[in-house]
Amino acid sequence: MSSQSHLGITIKQLKNMRDNNEKIACLTAYDAAFAKLLDHAGMDIILVGDSLGMVIQGHASTVSVTMEDIIYHTMCVASSTTHSLVISDMPFMSYSNIDSALHNATRLMQEGGAQMVKLEATQRQTEIVAELSECGIPVCAHLGLRPQYIHKLGGYHSQGTDADSAKELLLTSTALEQAGADILLVECIPSQLAAEITKAVNIPVIGIGAGKDCDGQILVLQDILGITPGKTPPFVKNYMQNCSIQEAVKNYIKEVKSGAFPV
Ligand code: KIV
Repeated sequence: MSSQSHLGITIKQLKNMRDNNEKIACLTAYDAAFAKLLDHAGMDIILVGDSLGMVIQGHASTVSVTMEDIIYHTMCVASSTTHSLVISDMPFMSYSNIDSALHNATRLMQEGGAQMVKLEATQRQTEIVAELSECGIPVCAHLGLRPQYIHKLGGYHSQGTDADSAKELLLTSTALEQAGADILLVECIPSQLAAEITKAVNIPVIGIGAGKDCDGQILVLQDILGITPGKTPPFVKNYMQNCSIQEAVKNYIKEVKSGAFPV
C-alpha cells in the first residue's frame, strides 16, 4: 500500500498560480532520495514519468514500461513527498478503453499514492478523461509529441508545425479541458501554438520544448543534471554548473519562476 498521505500543493493552488502569473515548476523523479530533494527545494509538481523506461531502465523508448514499474516508482516518490503534487504516468496501453483506464488510474492512486494521473491524449481520449474526472481522478492530458506513439510517429519530431495539425491540437486542448482535464502538458510544439493553447484554456498548461508562454515548465531530472544516458533534446538546460544537486534544482526552479528558462 502507498504511504502517501499529504495534500501539499493542490489543483486549486496550481490554478491560482496560473491566474496570478506565477510560473509552475515541475521535474520528473523516480525515487525517494530525489523526490525528497525536489520536495524540499519547493518543486510544485513531481512527475513519475514513463521516461523512467529510458533514464532508469535504459530502454530506447517508454513503450516497455509497465503498470508495476510505475506503481513501484510512484510509491518511492510519494513516500518522500510532503509539498509537491505527485503525478503518475499511465503506461502505454493502460488506458486503451474506459474500463482499463479506470482500473489502472485507480491503482496508481491507491497503490502508488499518485494525486493525479497523466495520459497521452488526442480527441479519442476525451471520453476517457471525462470518465476519470467524473470518478474523482485528476487528469493531466499530454498533447503534442506523444512518446508512446514513437513507433507510429517514426521518431521524436515536433508536432503541430503545419496549420491543420496546429488547429487540431488547439481543438483537442479545449475538448480535453471541457472533458475535465485539470492540467495540459504540451510537448515539442511551436511556441506560438503553445501560447495560443495557454490563452484558449482556463487550466494550467505545462510546457516541455514548447516555449516560454506556458503556465509552467517541466524537464526530466537527469537531463538538468547532465547525467542522461544517451542524447538530450535541444531544449534541455544542464543546471549542474560547479554546484551541488540541491543548488542545481533550486536554480532550475528560480529560472522557471522568473521566466529566465526557457529563453
Ligand atoms: O515521461 C515523462 O517524463 C514525460 C515528461 C518528459 C513530460 O512525459
